Amino acid sequence: MFERLNTPEEIFSFKLGSALTMERDTLAMLADLEDEARRPELKQLLAEHAEETRRQISMIEQCFALLDEEVDASPCAVIKAIAAEGKATIKKTDDSLVDAVILAGALETEHHEQAVYETLLLHARARGAASVVGVLETNLAIEQSAGAKVKALAERIAVSGVAVPTEGMSRGAKAGIVAGVAATVGAAAAAALKAGDHHETGTPEATTVTGSGATAATSTPTAGDTTTATVPATGSATSAEEFNDDALEERIEESEHRTRP
Ligand SMILES: [Fe+2]
Repeated sequence: MFERLNTPEEIFSFKLGSALTMERDTLAMLADLEDEARRPELKQLLAEHAEETRRQISMIEQCFALLDEEVDASPCAVIKAIAAEGKATIKKTDDSLVDAVILAGALETEHHEQAVYETLLLHARARGAASVVGVLETNLAIEQSAGAKVKALAERIAVSGVAVPTEGMSRGAKAGIVAGVAATVGAAAAAALKAGDHHETGTPEATTVTGSGATAATSTPTAGDTTTATVPATGSATSAEEFNDDALEERIEESEHRTRP
């Protein structure tokens, strides 16, 4: 552990160690979130990213070896804070709605992780540490891919209905959810049609529409409730599609091979 940072190289190593702690904390958080998640597809997404995170941890450890330095985990308060905030928010959130809280925390985490790798990369390139550049690029690509998948799922459930039926929920409440989904999707579709929302360029855009009526975001809709729903524009591709899982897998294997002593 560095007492003081006196050279750019020391800052780099310190931040690399901080990234290691970040990934270890993320791995623990992903397991907790997987337990809390309601939707099978969200559980699967979190489990897959946990597997990727394990590989990222070993790739950071290999970065230290490539730099001929000892593995040194530096502090990282950010993921601990995101995890604590998520845990506290989940605790006070209705069971049927926790997926939205989990996805928010996951997206915040992915953005932070991307910023960490972007900074490490620009310093690695500047100091000519070519050996670790490829590895860090792979870790960044994994975060970008995971972030895009999280965002796509968050968008999908925001539009189609955040709530999921839960054990013990009354039939009336379940009916309210279904009605809420129909109202939200119907209002959004009508507004999109009214706006003549055709994007032939295929540029990813979103149209924000305001509809009134029951909302799927709450299991107890109230009269006159106003909901703002974000509807992906026609022809818009989710950013998840920009990432090809096979290509990413190849890249990971290549990096792992490169970092093997
Ligand atoms: Fe991540």
